[in-house]
This record gives sequence, structure tokens and C-alpha cells, in this order.
Amino acid sequence: MTWDPVYQGNGVVRPGVALPPPPPWRTFPRKSLGGKFQPPPGLVSAVNAALFLRRPLLITGSPGSGKSTVIESVAEELDLGPVLRWHITSRSSLTEALYRYDVLGRIHARQLGSDTDDISPFLQFGPLGTALLPAARPRALLIDEIDKSDLDLPSDLLDVLERGEFEIPELARYERATVAVRGWDSNQLHGITRGRVACTQFPVIVMTDNGEREFAAPFLRRCIRYTMPVHTDIEVVKRAVRAHLEGVDVESEPIVELIEQFVARTRSGDLLALDQLLNAVFVVIGGAAPVGYQRDQVMKYLLRELSGA
Ligand SMILES: Nc1ncnc2c1ncn2[C@@H]1O[C@H](COP(=O)(O)OP(=O)(O)O)[C@@H](O)[C@H]1O
Ligand SMILES: [Mg+2]
Repeated sequence: MTWDPVYQGNGVVRPGVALPPPPPWRTFPRKSLGGKFQPPPGLVSAVNAALFLRRPLLITGSPGSGKSTVIESVAEELDLGPVLRWHITSRSSLTEALYRYDVLGRIHARQLGSDTDDISPFLQFGPLGTALLPAARPRALLIDEIDKSDLDLPSDLLDVLERGEFEIPELARYERATVAVRGWDSNQLHGITRGRVACTQFPVIVMTDNGEREFAAPFLRRCIRYTMPVHTDIEVVKRAVRAHLEGVDVESEPIVELIEQFVARTRSGDLLALDQLLNAVFVVIGGAAPVGYQRDQVMKYLLRELSGA
């Protein structure tokens, strides 16, 4: 079998040329990978501690160690519905995670002579605000890459989570007592009275951290902390490969070799993510797997270390 490139780089147009089928984890619309997740040692206890104590779980670890997938696994197993996601950047603010008010849109509607001056269409909860709505079952919330935030955000956030409630000032002083506000991930409307939102079930929260900064003790005190181990356990890695590529024999020679090389490199301190190994395995089992020099070349790109140059 030969590696049969779709792109040949020779400028010859091949209209309608078909791509081979994608890896199961790259099909769209994207499906949850929660069911494929193999918890590393100790993680199950940390998750349960966070669940029982109604505290957020703070997961630290290198890129690709599976941090963002933990919440999908928990939400799937506990049947908590779709995961609410808040991806943090240096520009993220707590307020926008709670709710968004489109003040310009409202002024514009007024100028266009809208006959009502209803505030409701211009308000929407953010992912955190939606997670704090009263509900019979807790929502699952991912606060991704919290170490990228500005300095004050973690303590402001923990303050909201401590109280489990917040206020929308624009509604606290609004003429009508109750206003319908749209949720983050559906068009469902929630009646909010005097601008006050208070949860009845503390959400299931995972915060992820790439370890790029230190957090203050008062923040750490209010979380359950877990550090993802690097992938050095051959059995866990095999299980993860098997889960992602159903029907593939992980004991077959080329795959065992890839897994052993991967584990040997992570043990010696190379920074490699599990999805790099999954990519490599997918390529060698493909219908037209590369061989010889081509295989070495592709593997070099797929299993390149994640740090530095
Ligand atoms: N323990 C594991 N079991 C199964 N799959 C894993 C595991 N760890 C990582 N993966 C896979 O690796 C990929 C990257 O994981 P992700 O959660 O995005 O990492 P991170 O958020 O730490 O960068 C995902 O596709 C996930 O399915
Ligand atoms: Mg992530």
C-alpha cells in the first residue's frame, strides 16, 4: 500500500477530488468525546470530591493532557445535558460571562421608531449566568484556560461562585418587575425578577489551567485541585487509543510500536499530547498508509514535540 496524497503540489487541477474519511474525532458537527475519556489515576476521586462539596474542580496540566475533556465525560455520565463553555482570554470579563446587554442595539431600535421600549430582546445570559439559573438539575460548565485571564478575574469569579447569585443592575431599576431573558445556548426565556439571579443547584464546574501562572491562596482554597499526569502509563494510553478507534487492534505490531515510542518519549520528558498519538495511529491504519521514507516524514510532523522550536 502506498500513501496516496490528495494534494500533489503539481498544479494539475483535479475537479471534485474526494478526501478520505476523517478520523472519528474530526467529524462535524462535533460530537462529545466524553465517552472516550479514560480517567487517569485519582481523577475520579477529585471529581467526586468537587461534586459532593459543590466546589469547582481546577485541573492543571500540559496541552493535550485531556483537561477540557473531563467535563464532557462527567456531563455525559451524569446526564447533565450540553456543556456550557466559557473560553477565557486576557480580554474576558466576568460581566460578559454572566450576561450581555446590547445597549447600542436598543438605542438603535428606539431611533428606528420601535413602538415598544422593551429591554428583553437586548439581554442574554452568558455561559456562567446560564449555569447559575434556577434549575432542577445542575448544569455542566467548562471555564477553559483560566490562567489566560487578567489578574483580578479568578477572585471576582470565585466571589460569584461563593454566593451562587448575581444581579443585573439594568433590570434592578427597570420599570417592570419581571423581564424575560434569553439563555446562552438556547432561545429559552427565563423570567428574572428585579434583576436577581440565584442558583438552586450549584453547577458542575471544571476550570482548566495550563500552569502559566500562580493563583492566590484564597482562590485555591475554594477549589478542588487536580494535576493531570503526563501520559506515561502504557495501559491507559492503549485504552484511550482503543476507545477512539473502535475495531482497531492495539496489540498489532505497528500500533504497539507507536504506543511504546510515544510512552518512552513522554517518560523521558518530551512534551507530547495524546491526540498526536491518535493522529499517528489513524494514519498508519488508514487504507493507504504511508511506508518507508514517507512514513518517517509524516510521523516526524505528527509527533513533533509541543514545546519551543
Ligand atoms: N485520558 C484520556 N483518555 C482519552 N482521550 C484523551 C485522554 N486525554 C486526552 N485525550 C484526547 O486528547 C485530546 C485532547 O484533549 P483535551 O481535553 O483537548 O486536552 P487539553 O484541554 O488538556 O489541552 C482529546 O481529543 C481527548 O479526547
Ligand atoms: Mg483544553
